[in-house]
Amino acid sequence: MKTLRAYIAEAKRDKKAIGHFNFSNIEGLWAIAHGAQNVGVPVIVGVSEGEERAIGINEAVAMVRSIRSNLKIPIFLNADHHYSVDNVKKCIDAGYDSVIFDGAKLSLEENIEKSRECVEYAHKSLHDVIVEVELGYIGQSSKVLDGVPEGVSLENLTKVEDAQKLMKETGADMLAPAVGNIHGMMKGGVDPSLDINRIREIAKATDTPLVLHGGSGNDADFEEAIRSGICVVHINTELRKAYTEGVKKYMAENPEDVAPYKYGEAGKLSMQKVVEEKLKVFSRIK
Ligand code: G3H
Ligand code: ZN
Repeated sequence: MKTLRAYIAEAKRDKKAIGHFNFSNIEGLWAIAHGAQNVGVPVIVGVSEGEERAIGINEAVAMVRSIRSNLKIPIFLNADHHYSVDNVKKCIDAGYDSVIFDGAKLSLEENIEKSRECVEYAHKSLHDVIVEVELGYIGQSSKVLDGVPEGVSLENLTKVEDAQKLMKETGADMLAPAVGNIHGMMKGGVDPSLDINRIREIAKATDTPLVLHGGSGNDADFEEAIRSGICVVHINTELRKAYTEGVKKYMAENPEDVAPYKYGEAGKLSMQKVVEEKLKVFSRIK
């Protein structure tokens, strides 16, 4: 099986993107694995620090490896938005395929210093761990001020020169820029448009595979963003919503049922549908 690094290089060359989907229980992981298996494309599953506490670091590695070898599908595990260098190192030691050191809230100098420490540690590890770094402040839909998500302002977007400096001085493998994207989803399901020009300029200046965070609510911009240099797209909120709606519908129809594997399956199928739709868009499969 090819490495994650090879799949990312292919995505960059072919101007396609790999889907990155978060999970916080086994049904979610199966929804993503079966979705990717049906569509026939590689996939990245991610756990944030919070999701990781619910699952367990070693357990996440064991489950993903087991699915990879039993289903024979290219499924990779990522440590999503890890803010502490120690946590990043724990994930690398445990066998994650990739890690994100999120130093976006730090000064550029401190971000460079800590990102570099993660990169050196990851690249020395036995298996070739990919490191993604972050720059600029990605807004949040949960904090909407006067109709505008908090954090979305010109000064918070990633500057091309800073991105170049961060990538050059850390040797990181991927970059998550702030390009008008927000974590979460606006009420109504449509987020503000992305700054496609900025994506293009950062991709050109850094020659680095770019990662789009906060993908929920950005359907209208995916095609252009992927053609402009986005190689991985993160989706979480839309999956959580689909899972929960699936469970609620099942419970409304079967109010006496208390078997978690039954309502969990309803959540899983509803989530899997979204995974498959997104993967087809990211890989340009009609
Ligand atoms: O890292 C995770 C994501 O960026 C997901 O963002 O919940 O807006 O899809 P989202
Ligand atoms: Zn994110």
